[in-house]
Amino acid sequence: MDRIAITGGARLKGEIPISGAKNSAIKLMAASLLTDEPLRLTNMPRLADTRFLGRLLRRLGAEVVEREGEDGPETLLTTREIVSGFAPYDLVRQMRASFNVLGPLLARSGQAKVSLPGGCTIGARPVDLHLKALEALGARIDLHEGYVYAQAPRGLTGGRIEFPFVSVGATEHALLAAVLAKGETVLENAAAEPEMADLAACLNAMGARVEGAGGKTIRVQGVDRLGGATHSVIPDRIETGTYALAVAMAGGEVRLTRTRSDFVAALTAKMREAGVEVVEHDDGLTVRRDGGRLTAVEIETDPYPGFATGLQAQFMALMTLAKGESVIKETIFENRFMHAPELGRLGADISVHGGEARVRGVDKLDGAQVMATDLRASVSLVIAGLAAQGETMVNRVYHLDRGFERLEEKLGACGAQIRRLKGDGEPVED
Ligand code: UD1
Repeated sequence: MDRIAITGGARLKGEIPISGAKNSAIKLMAASLLTDEPLRLTNMPRLADTRFLGRLLRRLGAEVVEREGEDGPETLLTTREIVSGFAPYDLVRQMRASFNVLGPLLARSGQAKVSLPGGCTIGARPVDLHLKALEALGARIDLHEGYVYAQAPRGLTGGRIEFPFVSVGATEHALLAAVLAKGETVLENAAAEPEMADLAACLNAMGARVEGAGGKTIRVQGVDRLGGATHSVIPDRIETGTYALAVAMAGGEVRLTRTRSDFVAALTAKMREAGVEVVEHDDGLTVRRDGGRLTAVEIETDPYPGFATGLQAQFMALMTLAKGESVIKETIFENRFMHAPELGRLGADISVHGGEARVRGVDKLDGAQVMATDLRASVSLVIAGLAAQGETMVNRVYHLDRGFERLEEKLGACGAQIRRLKGDGEPVED
């Protein structure tokens, strides 16, 4: 299994282009099941998760072509017909977002059998809201032996769905099904994440009639069929925020391009409060830090436009070296602090009680062997390694590869001392 070795202490200087958003790309790929015409997605990230979903979509009948377009990587998805409505456990377990094929399969072919995704390391992560939403659209749902059997032989019908709390996955899922339902669907207390608006924009380009996505109420007028379209994936706000925090941690000056500073406004407000300089541009932001100790600040994760749960681990890494005590509250996922003990291996002083972590800043971190059990936690260890003295070895890199495209290349180009080691410890030849 690959590992990443980082020698801390190098300041970062240069430019990092941000890739298309993973969390948009995978839902947009699922949307391709809704039409028999080609959906062309540009600004696609090339990640383990997108490759993985491509494999599942092929099994369901899609033709998936990855190619280099005028504006970088793109994927062309064409599902002339659904050849199978079955998404097996092995595939759904490995990537949770695979579960979102259920809605499109049901909407297009009236039936599906999709494995329940099961728990995962950051919490229980149930799918009850997804299933209730599909039922509200007239689907019959049965659960047997870990599978969801869904049926809508005469098609889905519009309905009113009020989510008891914000769920990005469930809102997206309801939208993916509602676009082909008969009549009007209203989604109340909908997730307002930028990925929602992106999905709606793509569906509308395919001929759907969706209004209000990106706000709390989404209205959908169902249509009989959808067609092909070309859609550019929005920039990845989590990747943007992660590199912003990497620069804040290591020091230096880096321009993040091909992205949107407004997507990370809650983060940059907190970074400024801590003493990091952030300048916004049309195509992204520049992050600058010239030495000097940062001040501890408190954060609480919240649905968008609040502080993203996907940046909590990385922010915690930054706070390990700040002056004073930072309180970090995680309100979205109940067990998203597994990075805390690993940061402790580098010398950080963190205590966790329930959904709250207290980080008391230390003078320095020391490199060590670390390991993480989820995507964002792994990258927080990379960020900490950039500032730790000596070498930090991050094991189990496959988590990183799920969500960060060419991480070591992007950081290395800005002067970070970072390299990938093959499972046997030899550097990867490239
Ligand atoms: C979450 C983030 C999203 C981020 C993504 C990847 C929020 C609100 N969501 O989305 O911004 O892009 O991770 O890091 O910040 N839940 C249920 N039942 C359901 C569905 C969800 O109880 O059927 C719960 C979850 O366990 C969680 C909360 O609702 O506590 C929010 O989950 P949800 O937004 O659906 O998670 P993701 O779609 O993974």
